[in-house]
This record gives sequence, C-alpha cells and structure tokens, in this order.
Amino acid sequence: MLKRLMLPMVLLCSITAAFASSYDVMDFYTDYKKVIADMYQGIDAIIPEEERTACSATGASPVYGEIVYESCAVLLAELKLTENDVFYDLGSGLGKFVTQVYLTSAVKKAWGVEFSENRYKRATDTTKNLAKIQGQAFKFENEIRKTFGKSALTKTKGKEFGFDNMDMLKADLSDATVVFTCSTCFGPEFMQKLTDKLAENDGLRILTLVQLPYNKHVHEGATYVLPMTWSAETPVYMYKVDHSREAKKPEGVAEATAQVKEEPVVSVVVPEVQVVSEEQAEETPELVLDFADEEVK
Ligand SMILES: C[S@@+](CC[C@H](N)C(=O)[O-])C[C@H]1O[C@@H](n2cnc3c(N)ncnc32)[C@H](O)[C@@H]1O
Repeated sequence: MLKRLMLPMVLLCSITAAFASSYDVMDFYTDYKKVIADMYQGIDAIIPEEERTACSATGASPVYGEIVYESCAVLLAELKLTENDVFYDLGSGLGKFVTQVYLTSAVKKAWGVEFSENRYKRATDTTKNLAKIQGQAFKFENEIRKTFGKSALTKTKGKEFGFDNMDMLKADLSDATVVFTCSTCFGPEFMQKLTDKLAENDGLRILTLVQLPYNKHVHEGATYVLPMTWSAETPVYMYKVDHSREAKKPEGVAEATAQVKEEPVVSVVVPEVQVVSEEQAEETPELVLDFADEEVK
C-alpha cells in the first residue's frame, strides 16, 4: 500500500516544486532519477561464473558498469527522440537506461537486449510495474503541459517497453532508430560484426563507448565526454548510418581496428554526478567495471 502511494507522492511533490518555482524540465529529470533509484534499490548485477564464460564466448564481455542518469539525460537532450523513434540498449544489464528512455523521452519503444539471463530477469522483475508508472506520469505531465503550455516530455501513449534475453548479434533490430551500447570491453571482431549488422539499418543513430571499426555506411559524428559509474570522463561516440554516401576508409587501418577520430570532442559538464568512489566500489563491485573477473562473487 505504502509502495503504491510512494510514486504519486513523489510525482506530486515534483509538481508542487514545479509550480512553486518556474517549470523546469530538469525537475522531471531529477524526480525520475529518484523513481528509478528507488526501483533499483538493492538490485545487483552479479552473475554466476558459467554465465560470464558464455557471455565472453559471444566475443563481447560480461564486465559490468553503468552509464549514470545525468549522462543519459545529456544524450537524450542531444538525441531529441520523438514518437517515431525506437531505442535499443544493446547489452542492457539491469535495464536502467531503457527505463530512463521510456520514462523521460517520447519514444514509441524502449527496448533492451541482454545476454545474461540473471541480469535480464532482474531487469524484467524490477520494471514490471513500469507501464503503470508511465501512465501516472503521463497524467501528471499533461496537467503541467496544460498549465504551462510546454512541449511534451513523454507524450506518447501506449509506448512499448521490454527486454530480450539474447546475444545482440542475433537480435532483430530492424525497427531501431537509435541504439546505445556500453561496448568498452567488447572484442574487435565482435565490434566488426555488430557494426556490419547495424550498418544495414539506414538512418540509424549509434551511440557507443568505443569507436566503431570501418564500415562504408557508418559515419562518425560528435563525441561526448560523460561520466559512467567507473569513470568521470568516458567518451561516447555518435555515428549515423547513411547509405547515400560512403565513409572514407582511414588510410592504413584494417577493417577490424578502430577508426581514426576526426570530429571535435564535445565535453559536457554534468551537475551532481556520483561517480563511485574506491570505497563504494569495494562495497558495490557491480557498479564498477569488473575487469578482474575473480573479484566478483
Ligand atoms: C557494461 S554493461 C552495460 C549496462 C547498461 N547498458 C548501462 O550502460 O548501464 C554491458 C552489458 O552487456 C551485456 N552483454 C555482453 N555481451 C552481450 C551480448 N553478446 N549480447 C547481449 N548482451 C551482452 C553484459 O552482460 C552486460 O550486462
């Protein structure tokens, strides 16, 4: 009962705050941050050894770390997703970014693809009431919009939200318009396969934490430097698939190695970001990129 009252109260407080000061989109981001943080309280990303081994065998990696809420908000502000967009997080882990996209953007579909069955199950269990939350948020936001005439944040009704438990290389991504992949630890051959797969989807925008290997249809755009749970300054590379022109192949660079970056780096200052300290990291190893497999129980 208390739980059921919590969300409306949190949202009501946010609206009161919005009325008290001037309406500010960041109020919503802040409130959703709390909603998501509450939802994920006590949920970890630790998985058994056999799952780690199976995940590594895909050519990617079971190593875990997360993009933080504020960094997602920066990317969403850049992406300006509309009700025509379909967002995928490839390697969605516990599903926080997918949840944030669903709650705070206008996309018609926010979807995660996660290889680990344990992480997939935790993502689906944790977010099982999300459609209800989105419905309530929609009503509240509509009131704000009526009063202030501001453009919609989550205006799409009947959005789709969910996760698939599978290798991202086997996922049907034909409806994707934007994908994010926290690819820091994925191997070069895997990245080539992923890039070639994504390159089939003309118009697709790709956000990746490592530069993509060469594909003639994949064009590099801006780079954002943003906090993740393991580092305050992680580059996030934006690419666009465009079949109407051919990307220049960097001289002397083989297909499966990283491209030379030509675009300027956009550094974004994000307020109030909590990057995990070393002490916190020891307490919550799943929040940090767990390079040493044996340290994660
Ligand atoms: C660094 S975590 C990122 C979690 C989340 N996307 C975020 O940024 O907060 C990468 C995730 O990719 C998953 N993964 C690794 N290989 C995969 C594959 N071949 N297909 C789908 N998911 C994979 C891992 O299990 C892990 O949960």
